Amino acid sequence: MKFNRNFIINLLVIAINQLPNARGVKISESELNNFKYGAKEFTMAIIGDTGYTKEASQVMNLASFDALLHLGDYDYKCEPDSYFTKILGSNRKYKFFGILGNHEDAGECGESKYHRYVSNINYQMKKNTGTSCVFSKYKTMWSCVYNNVRIVGLSPSISKEESRSSQLAFLKKYLSESSEDWKICAWHYYDDYYHTGKYQKNKNYVSGDGENFYDYCKNQGAIIFSAHDHVYARTHVMSKFSKPVIDTYDYDSPSNIVQIRKGATLNILDAVGGWEVYDEAGKHKNFSHWIKKYARGSNGENAKKYGGLFCKFNVGGNNKKSYCEFKRINSSTSVFDSFTIYRNNDPKNIAYDKIDSRFLSEKIAAYQAKKSGSSSGSGSTTTTTNNNNPTIKTSTNDRCGSSYGKCPSGKCCSKYGWCSTSNDHCDVDKGCQTKYGILITTSIPYSSSNRCGSSYGKCRNNECCSRYGWCSNSSSHCGSGCQPLYGRCY
Ligand SMILES: *[C@@H]1O[C@H](CO)[C@@H](O)[C@H](O)[C@H]1NC(C)=O
Ligand SMILES: *[C@@H]1O[C@H](CO)[C@@H](O)[C@H](O)[C@H]1NC(C)=O
Ligand SMILES: *[C@@H]1O[C@H](CO)[C@@H](O)[C@H](O)[C@H]1NC(C)=O
Repeated sequence: MKFNRNFIINLLVIAINQLPNARGVKISESELNNFKYGAKEFTMAIIGDTGYTKEASQVMNLASFDALLHLGDYDYKCEPDSYFTKILGSNRKYKFFGILGNHEDAGECGESKYHRYVSNINYQMKKNTGTSCVFSKYKTMWSCVYNNVRIVGLSPSISKEESRSSQLAFLKKYLSESSEDWKICAWHYYDDYYHTGKYQKNKNYVSGDGENFYDYCKNQGAIIFSAHDHVYARTHVMSKFSKPVIDTYDYDSPSNIVQIRKGATLNILDAVGGWEVYDEAGKHKNFSHWIKKYARGSNGENAKKYGGLFCKFNVGGNNKKSYCEFKRINSSTSVFDSFTIYRNNDPKNIAYDKIDSRFLSEKIAAYQAKKSGSSSGSGSTTTTTNNNNPTIKTSTNDRCGSSYGKCPSGKCCSKYGWCSTSNDHCDVDKGCQTKYGILITTSIPYSSSNRCGSSYGKCRNNECCSRYGWCSNSSSHCGSGCQPLYGRCY
């Protein structure tokens, strides 16, 4: 997606007005656009129930993408190699992630073909470069990290070797330890409320009567993809799935704005990749938690208009923003659905458009810092970098974080992994990554009391300065919200 010009200029005006130290600085739109900042952008295609038809290839040609997440059903004829040789081809440039559908199941095609499907998927995933995956013993579940996304792929009710409870345990293990910005849960089947009705009796396929898989993913803020029912359907942002509850903040935002966080997410049913499009049926199609649905019409409309979802992650470098389009073939209006996903941890206090303007001010600050060199202004200030981990290598290119290392002495590591000395990089509340570089300004005077902060000064006795400006060594003062400019933090 390209930003609309007026939109970005408006944002720029807002951001510049908000920046305390941006007075008099002129930055052109093109200068800023040429300055790459933040997390790497990439596009993921999410497509299900394709078979290996020519339409399946046409769907994949609807957009360019860096990674493909296939939601299962690679063919409907028990030919385990066909999709992988005819559709994926041998010299694909994109990453491939695939889960098992019911048409790969042993019940459908017999044991040996089932194993062949599993090993074909596994082989393709191991061919990826730049991804890091863990597979379960029988390879019917996996957890992969690709850029700043964690994807957990499961096969509840399909794998007989790995039970539903072991699938839930796998999900919990890999999702709870995920520190990636984006999280995705993917499985082929669905629970009762999350399909539009072709199979009226397929109840509770994913969660069974046990703990709800959807709600676990929601609690972690993961986006949920499922398939099997050959429709495309997107839910509202839900704060509960086991018995559907639409998130309060979803009512306040337009239908093309999706705000997710730990505790609220959406489910997308995405299974019209090239084989067949179903009608909707029964009570399921009427559920009010669907915000957008795509199916075959009663006169056969859409029957051949297959499609897939294309999501760009980290729009413009912003790791809190993604943009998705559901596109289809054989239609003059290719885009049927489009929406922006914001990771908004605090929708009560932060409007989603603030996420854009905050990111832009950070980008502008980083650009200014880069332009004016790394000096922090006042020549008399002595600075040191407080880095608690001497084993981390020092970055040489002004990037920082787990893959680059810590900033050189005197610079802070921003949330988005850039070394600089601006407040936006050094402020822990703005996500400064203290592990990879933080600034201690020694010219700040000591406080004469047990208060600290800009009007009091630094804590004495090597104590920590709390979020609210009190000195102490207690963990509540030294941890979250601790102000590194005014004392020790850990
Ligand atoms: C679904 O809603 C439509 C109208 O919105 C109604 O005609 C139909 O009877 C409903 N179907 C079910 C199964 O409730
Ligand atoms: C469907 O669209 C593809 C290209 O997207 C085209 O090659 C094909 O001929 C179309 N088929 C029909 C039936 O319109
Ligand atoms: C606070 O902790 C630091 C670091 O352990 C220590 O040097 C300092 O003496 C402590 N201050 C007080 C008042 O206990």
